[in-house]
Formats: sequence, C-alpha cells, structure tokens
Amino acid sequence: MSQLVDLVIFGGTGDLSSRKLLPALFQLHRHGLAERLQRIVATGRSEMDTDAFRQIARDNLLRYLPDDDWDETIWSEFRERLHYVRVEAAHAEHYRALASLLQEGHSQGQLYYLATLPALYGEICQQLQAAGAVGEHSRVVLEKPLGHDLASCQQINHQVDQVFSEEATFRIDHYLGKETVQNLLALRFGNQLFQPMWNNTFVSSVQITVAEEIGVAGRGSYYAETGALRDMVQNHLLQVLSIVAMEPPASLQASDIRDEKMKVLRSLEPITAANVKERTVRGRYAEGAVDGHAVKGFLEEDEFQHAEDTETFVALKASINNWRWAGVPFYLRTGKRLSRRYSEIVIEYRRPPFSLFANDPQELTNKLVIHLQPEESISLHTLNKKPGLRSKLKLQPVELHLTDDQQRVEDSYDAYERLLLDALHGDQTLFMRRDEVETAWRWIDTIIAAWEENSTPIKNYNAGTMGPNAATALIAVDGRQWHE
Ligand SMILES: NC(=O)c1ccc[n+]([C@@H]2O[C@H](COP(=O)([O-])OP(=O)(O)OC[C@H]3O[C@@H](n4cnc5c(N)ncnc54)[C@H](OP(=O)(O)O)[C@@H]3O)[C@@H](O)[C@H]2O)c1
Repeated sequence: MSQLVDLVIFGGTGDLSSRKLLPALFQLHRHGLAERLQRIVATGRSEMDTDAFRQIARDNLLRYLPDDDWDETIWSEFRERLHYVRVEAAHAEHYRALASLLQEGHSQGQLYYLATLPALYGEICQQLQAAGAVGEHSRVVLEKPLGHDLASCQQINHQVDQVFSEEATFRIDHYLGKETVQNLLALRFGNQLFQPMWNNTFVSSVQITVAEEIGVAGRGSYYAETGALRDMVQNHLLQVLSIVAMEPPASLQASDIRDEKMKVLRSLEPITAANVKERTVRGRYAEGAVDGHAVKGFLEEDEFQHAEDTETFVALKASINNWRWAGVPFYLRTGKRLSRRYSEIVIEYRRPPFSLFANDPQELTNKLVIHLQPEESISLHTLNKKPGLRSKLKLQPVELHLTDDQQRVEDSYDAYERLLLDALHGDQTLFMRRDEVETAWRWIDTIIAAWEENSTPIKNYNAGTMGPNAATALIAVDGRQWHE
C-alpha cells in the first residue's frame, strides 16, 4: 500500500470504536507510530458535524484512556485527524459524500474498518465500490462475529470477496493482537529448549481458559442467539489453540503461519452425537455473587427470559488428530459470571518416568503457564529442592518467570493498537484467513448439531464460581483438574 492511508470506521459512534479503536489510535499517534495514517473518518447514522464528533471523541478518550496517557497537546494534534460523515448503510448518496471527502486528501490508500452489524458488511462493501471508493490500495477490516454458522460466514465472506481480495481483507480476532500470544511464537520457535518437548511424548494435556466476571446484560438479542460456544470458542479459543499446536512454519510470513494454523484446525477431531456427552459441558449462570456483589441469574435478566437454550459457559475436550498431538487432550473452557476474569494457556508435562524422592508430590507436574489477561506473562512451574539443612532432598514447587515484568509494564499496549498498526502496514499475520474462519465454523457447527440431536442439557452454576460441577468431572475422569 502507498504511504498515506485514510482510516474509515463504520460504526465510528459505537461502543467498540469509543472504548477500543479511538483510544488505540490516540496511543499510536502519541507514540509516533501513526505516520502512515492521514485521516480518521468515523461514520454512523446520526446527524452531526465533525466538531460535534470531535467533542464526543474527546469525552470518550478521557473516559477510556488511562489517566496518565492523556495529553492536551497530543489531543490538539490528534483531533485534527478526526472527521465525521453520516453514512446510513443503505443510502448510496452518503457513500458518494464519503468518497468525495476521501478524494480531497493526500492519501493514496483507504482502510475501511467495519465495526458495525456484520449483516451490513456485504452491503457496505458493495456501496463503497459503487461510489468509486475502492481502489488498488483499499483494504477492509472485519470485526467479529463473522456469521452465526458456516453458511452465514460463507455468505459474508462471499459478499466481501466480490469487492476486496483476500490479500486486502483483515479479519480481526483481538486475541491474536495480545503480546503474549505473539510471545508464544517467540518462545516456541526462538528457543531450542521447548520445541523438542512440544509434543505428545512430553506433554500430557493442554488447557485453555477464558474466564469472564461480567454477565451478558446489555447484549440482548445478540447473545440470546449466540451462546458461549459461538461467541468465544469459534474464534478466540480456537485461534489460541491453533497457535499453541501448529508446526514450525517455513517463515514468519503471514501465509506460512496461517498455513500451519489451518492444518491444526483441519486436524481437530469432530465432536459428534456419539461422543458429545463425554466431550462437552454446557452451563448457564444462576444467581450468585461476583466480587462481593449479588448478581441475577441469566434467565432472570429481562432480556434473556426466553433464552433457555443459550449457554453462558462451555467446557470441551478437544483432540487434534496428527502425529504431534495424538492422545493429548486439549481442554477448553470459557464462561460468563465466573469467579474472576482471567485467560491462560497451561501446557502440562508428563511426570518423570520414575521418582527418586520419598516425598514426591505426585500431583505436581511441570507446567508452562501463559497468562493472557488481566496480566500478560509466562511462567514455568518446576520442582526443586527445599532449601536448608532440615530438608534433605525434599521437593518443593518453584515458579520461574520468563517475562520481564518491568519491561512488560513499560511497553504494554492494547491488542487493538497492534492490530490497527499491522492493518495500516498491510501485515496480515495476526488476522484470520477465510479458510481458517470457515474451518473453525465447520467444527463448531458439528458440535451444535450434536447438542441438538442429543438434546444436551444446560447445567446451572452459581454466578461467582468456575462453572458447573460437570466441568470439573469432564477433566477429573482423566485424572486431572483445572489449573486455577
Ligand atoms: N463492543 C465491543 O466490545 C465489541 C467487541 C468485539 C466485537 N464487536 C463487534 O463490533 C461491531 C460493533 O459493535 P458495537 O458494540 O460498537 O456496536 P454498537 O455500540 O451498537 O454500535 C453500532 C454502530 O454501528 C452503526 N450502525 C448501526 N446500524 C447502522 C446502519 N444501518 N448504517 C450505518 N451504521 C449503522 C451505529 O451508528 P449510530 O450510532 O449512528 O446508530 C454505531 O456506530 C459488532 O459487529 C460487534 O459484534 C464489538
């Protein structure tokens, strides 16, 4: 892409733009990383001028940026980049106004960020093309959810594909923008230490947990028809799984990394009606207490009273049928209103073949724990000698931190900063390719069909716990427990 790019945000007045995109762009500007970026053009249905939008943007930045990062001088520069154009998705004349604004500037490229209803993506792309606003240097970023199932995902992809080539299409999964997910690539492929043991000879299981404290109030019609499997597993958890499990790529080029991730997704064993009972648990939060506050159950929220078939928690035991991972269970779980907010990957190693130590704590194994949120860090759980004269060769657990906490705090950034920067530079490595998203949907659709065929029940759990007891049992039958 050419030097200067105009970024156009569809849904520029929405929640995502206010909370994540504009703060990320402000930070890129503040750090001097936005030299490619010319103008930021927000669009929405509301009637307002650019000055009014700038005022709203300022209020939101003050609200959502960390206090220490606000700077009036930076704001006075940043505000000049902001513009607003009213664009109602179906109104061709609005796109013509947008196109003429884009022609006025010095930018040769456009980055269209679709942060609005996915049902509008196809129409927006077609209208942009009809208005002459799509050229050789235009790209599009697509927010999740990309469909509700494989068929609807294929339909969106097909519509977008009529206007933007795959090389110009950037499908966001913000988990890929997290520093630690990228650090996983560095850890795996930058060291000799881990790679020889990254297989079923040494690893006994892998756990991926994405736990949220928040409920789903306020996301009414969307969540009622979605549930935890579609909302979280189809994208975030499967993306993380594919990076954990992929083979070493030929290079760090986007196509090589995505080829390897794709092979993992294709190797996932389908969960069908024959094994769905042993492999999955669906849950729904009942009333309880989170962080010391009493909270309602899912079905007691006004907007969810008729959503009896929606799960707010899911736990799965996945298998990857390839040479590296055959026989290693990948336990995935995610849910709302759990006891605390955290996301982590746990690589659990097998026990030594024979123990020399009388007090060997059999339940302790070596683990590599990759924390994704709230803090991002990596630690290796090992056993060493308890120090002192009294404890002759007694073992004790020790956690080795593999990340530099000081540097992590100083250089921390939000995933959207990384992803926006990469999209501006045309780097697709941390974005999902069409075949990845569709293959993930195919696997998820099979589970949903199996749930329907088996009438898989949804088990209640109290808000503020880590899900239904059945999730503990899912892993306990294999002699394991969730890492908490
Ligand atoms: N919010 C999040 O944290 C989050 C996280 C991940 C993904 N996402 C995804 O990002 C997208 C936006 O989410 P959001 O939470 O920001 O939604 P939102 O707060 O409801 O905002 C929707 C935006 O779309 C615009 N819009 C709605 N209908 C339109 C139409 N017919 N024509 C043109 N513009 C229209 C709205 O404009 P007006 O304000 O003028 O009505 C508004 O700017 C969704 O796909 C969502 O799933 C959101």
